[in-house]
Amino acid sequence: MRIQISDIIKNEGREVELAGWVHARRDHGKLVFIDLRDRSGIVQVVFGPGVKEASELRLEYVIRVKGEVKKRPENMINDKIPTGRHEVSAKELEILNASVAMPISVDTDGYEISEETRLKYRYLDLRRERLTKNIVSRHKIIKYIRDFMDERGFLEIETPNLSKSTPEGARDYLVPSRLWQGKFYALPQSPQQYKQLLMVAGLEKYFQIARCFRDEDTRGDRQPEFTQLDMEMSFVEREDVMKLNEELLINIVKSVYPEKKIQEIPFPRLSYKEAMEKYKTDRPDLRTDKNDPNLLAFCWVIDFPFFEKTDDDKWTFTHNPFSAPKPEFMDDLLAQKNIAEILTTQYDVALNGLEIGGGSIRNHNPEALKSVFRVMGYEDQEIVGKFGHMLEALGSGAPPHGGIAWGLDRFVSLLQNEPNIREVIAFPKTGEGYDPMMGSPSEVGKKQLDELGLEIKKSKK
Ligand code: AMO
Repeated sequence: MRIQISDIIKNEGREVELAGWVHARRDHGKLVFIDLRDRSGIVQVVFGPGVKEASELRLEYVIRVKGEVKKRPENMINDKIPTGRHEVSAKELEILNASVAMPISVDTDGYEISEETRLKYRYLDLRRERLTKNIVSRHKIIKYIRDFMDERGFLEIETPNLSKSTPEGARDYLVPSRLWQGKFYALPQSPQQYKQLLMVAGLEKYFQIARCFRDEDTRGDRQPEFTQLDMEMSFVEREDVMKLNEELLINIVKSVYPEKKIQEIPFPRLSYKEAMEKYKTDRPDLRTDKNDPNLLAFCWVIDFPFFEKTDDDKWTFTHNPFSAPKPEFMDDLLAQKNIAEILTTQYDVALNGLEIGGGSIRNHNPEALKSVFRVMGYEDQEIVGKFGHMLEALGSGAPPHGGIAWGLDRFVSLLQNEPNIREVIAFPKTGEGYDPMMGSPSEVGKKQLDELGLEIKKSKK
């Protein structure tokens, strides 16, 4: 049975079977040394003259090796790797697959290679230790979240990716329908409406590791598709949601990143006004030492204005049209007066200067939601056309509810000390929203377009 490389230490003196990739190779004539790599690490394997195929080995060949785990002589110990006190003296070698010469090196941290090239060969790029570690840590965080939420009675529920285009802040990705020609699905910007509908359905506590899609200009901390930890709860107030999320954030750090220090617990809270006056941003970086890669300064920002003016002098929501105002502003919202003064129940959580999450208590009264859209200048007919399903649902015994969503990619990238979220996503798009590996987006043939009843007016490129 094959064992993982990290397990060789406890197999000293025994015969083991390993499988993996040739990470490095030194041919000393009689002896051939290779560094063998699998997901768990690297170990030195020594082939004597009895193993003839060893001279055929090249970098990134996939092999299976049988041999004895031996202690290395004192002067040959390599302190840089966990298995550096041992080596495997190979008796058998099987070449499972050859490899072409690597178009990119996979034994460096990769920052020196252009991103376009790295993404074109992402399946090789992911072989590098740094990226493998990012993927493993991401898994551990998500696993921790799932267990934590399950223990507290939350249900993980999937919601559709083929949804409906509604104004939610960003531009929608549209999917043309073949069966309903001329009509389009939209990919969800977040599961916001579905999770509220799950509360109406009486499911009380929902969460999802949810994929979200937003057609906006990508930056270091933005991707066209990204992942949220999304949650919603019934019969809660702002304090309940914040408390639960603070506990989860602290627990993840303590159990997955014990070497990291949280600057202040409980997390400091600032009002939007305070944050803007003191730090000129609503996601302040409160770290007392910005050079310390293990310092995490979380903070909550609350009491945001509900509405802001658009360029054409209309009102729009600052965060989420489904949010409830703070209770003392409900009358003003229903009467649509003192609009600029209305504060929302929105709470954002920032970490080291990045917004990693945001949520709110929702309007469970349909009249209040209608008022939000009226303030924004929507005609009643339009409100019913776009949000009739939500109004109807809220009118059918909707419990008071609220929730939050974290930008999981951002959170993981900060914990991994990565400069952008692409480093912690297995297959991200470039800054221009392009996937050089798949060559996507791509043109499609006339037949496919005909089936969808579509015609391309003019291609830009
Ligand atoms: P919001 O739009 O604030 O809230 O999104 C929540 C969090 O998601 C992250 N985020 C992104 N991450 C990567 N790429 C993007 N393009 C991107 N856009 C947002 C941010 C942000 O804090 N439905 C509400 C949540 C709620 O009210 O429950 C929502 O989606 O870290």
